Amino acid sequence: MQILVLHGPNLNLLGSREPDVYGTHTLAQIDADLQQIAAKAGAQLESLQSNHEGALIDRVQAARDDGTTAIIINPAALTHTSIGLRDALAAARVPFYEVHLSNVYRREAFRRHSYFSELAEGVVCGLGAAGYRLVLEHVLARRAGA
Ligand code: DQA
Repeated sequence: MQILVLHGPNLNLLGSREPDVYGTHTLAQIDADLQQIAAKAGAQLESLQSNHEGALIDRVQAARDDGTTAIIINPAALTHTSIGLRDALAAARVPFYEVHLSNVYRREAFRRHSYFSELAEGVVCGLGAAGYRLVLEHVLARRAGA
């Protein structure tokens, strides 16, 4: 099992970026945590953060035929703007899960629309860094047939 974790723009600043909204975990801590959980389950996990829409689209396109079995993605601001990244995920035919650290429904109105949710296997928001972990555990459990 090969899991791809994608983080969108500005998530490299986690830890110091609006900690009251996004929490105090750094992206490196989140990725290390996910890596450890995946390794224990015998799964491979790769994480990529980019501030560039095209870099994320390129990586999703590559996932079409590189053996990726599931994608966990926090598209960050691209959630609300990127038809291109949505189309890449639709073309990839790899099941994906959408994660947001904050509860996007409790914030500005523009955050309530996602170009991704209707294509996602599942959506988790508002649980902070634990959201990524819970989704990963779900993906691993599904593989095990739980
Ligand atoms: C976010 C929510 C988005 O609205 C925002 O643009 C982000 C992060 C979250 O994880 O809560 O950058 O995806």
